[in-house]
Amino acid sequence: MRVLVIGGDGYLGWPQAMGLSRKGHRVGVVDNFLHRQLDKMGGTESLIPIYPLEERMAAWKQVSGESIEQFCGDVNDFAFVCAVVQRFKPEAIMHYGEQPSAPFSMIDRDHGVFTQVNNIVGTLNLLYAIKEHQPRCHLVKLGTMGEYGTPNIDIEEGFIEISHNGRKDVMPYPKQPGSFYHLSKVHDSHNIMFACKVWGSRSTDLNQGVVYGVETEETALDERLATRFDYDGIWGTVLNRFCVQAVIEHPLTVYGKGGQTRGFLDIRDTMRCVELAILNPPEPGEYRVLNQFTEQFTVRQLAELVRDAAGKKGLRLEITHEEDPRVEEQTHYYNAKHTRLVDLGLQPRYLSDVLLESILDRLFRYRSRVRKETILALVDWRKARNPAGCAASDRVGALHARTWTGASIPDAVKRAAALALRAAGANALRGANDGRAQPR
Ligand SMILES: NC(=O)c1ccc[n+]([C@@H]2O[C@H](COP(=O)([O-])OP(=O)(O)OC[C@H]3O[C@@H](n4cnc5c(N)ncnc54)[C@H](O)[C@@H]3O)[C@@H](O)[C@H]2O)c1
Repeated sequence: MRVLVIGGDGYLGWPQAMGLSRKGHRVGVVDNFLHRQLDKMGGTESLIPIYPLEERMAAWKQVSGESIEQFCGDVNDFAFVCAVVQRFKPEAIMHYGEQPSAPFSMIDRDHGVFTQVNNIVGTLNLLYAIKEHQPRCHLVKLGTMGEYGTPNIDIEEGFIEISHNGRKDVMPYPKQPGSFYHLSKVHDSHNIMFACKVWGSRSTDLNQGVVYGVETEETALDERLATRFDYDGIWGTVLNRFCVQAVIEHPLTVYGKGGQTRGFLDIRDTMRCVELAILNPPEPGEYRVLNQFTEQFTVRQLAELVRDAAGKKGLRLEITHEEDPRVEEQTHYYNAKHTRLVDLGLQPRYLSDVLLESILDRLFRYRSRVRKETILALVDWRKARNPAGCAASDRVGALHARTWTGASIPDAVKRAAALALRAAGANALRGANDGRAQPR
């Protein structure tokens, strides 16, 4: 099958591209290196060194004998998206290419707007390009369990039957997202569902839980094939963050009471879920939602598991409770269905002591690279302007404007955006954004 992986330079997209390539699919990768650029602007960095995409591709060819095609560009640029779809003719598009951080989206107005434009317009462009050039292509889109929030009833997989005033209907499950990032995913979901209804497009929306882990079969083959691993207060997900705190013997920082419950899964299960979705496409016109996680934990439970696993390695760790920067329930009911991927053939891996210890072993090698100043949460949901990000806000605004200059928009708007760009001195970004000079 011909599969295009959007966001194929990222934490999940890169191992997915290799995994699909190894299984014999013809794979193309699209990325604009947004995450690498935002790292540079914000002073964050993947704990595990990652190679530029071109070197990754060359290493993959050397190690596996397989080639992956590379398309450097921005999915906010409709002309670029159409050109790639026309040339590659994907049968499935795997869409990982969004700004993935809730704290980033809550820094201030520019970061919130950037997140929503980047994510929603990118997905809309893909929907239009598929409709115009490759109408049978299956769009597999990464959503998040965070779209549902934490309702006081069971969470269904996408849809719920509602009885009201003596009548019944099956409707999208109510969404109560917890950040402007999560809201971008909700808006994506509505747009995708609408395209399926009116255009007969086919799509799978994978409402994914929080991913942990550092290695897949393919990343383990060669150090040049490693995927990124984030641990800081902006990009790091909770279990990955605790593991890095553990290896530098930093207290494990639980937000609030730690009773917040979420769904989690191993990165290798993410790879498998996506593959299962691709191999079992929905019918034209069908909008399918699958809840993609394998286990539920509270944040406090995760901290205890990491503390115990680290204890077996002689590390003595304290668990601290920090003021919760997010606006969320501290203890609540949570029971989310997640059977449809198992029905398709997923055999879940569970978070055992052994797995946690192997993650800690792998991270231990990189402990000298930890930037301690980036570990703590600096973004307070209650503020409209967080000092943590304001230094970078003008540049994020400029990046946003630059994105628009590549799109098919009226000349007057392009000129205004170009002026804003120059004013913000964003020329320095150009080299990094065109895929030739990518920072590590
Ligand atoms: N990691 C998790 O725990 C998790 C959980 C739930 C959902 N997700 C979703 O999975 C997807 C991938 O997440 P990740 O953790 O791999 O993030 P990531 O930042 O490591 O990867 C995303 C990639 O997409 C690229 N990208 C972003 N905007 C783009 C654009 N406009 N054009 C082209 N490329 C663009 C980035 O440069 C990056 O390489 C995201 O949509 C995220 O919201 C992730």
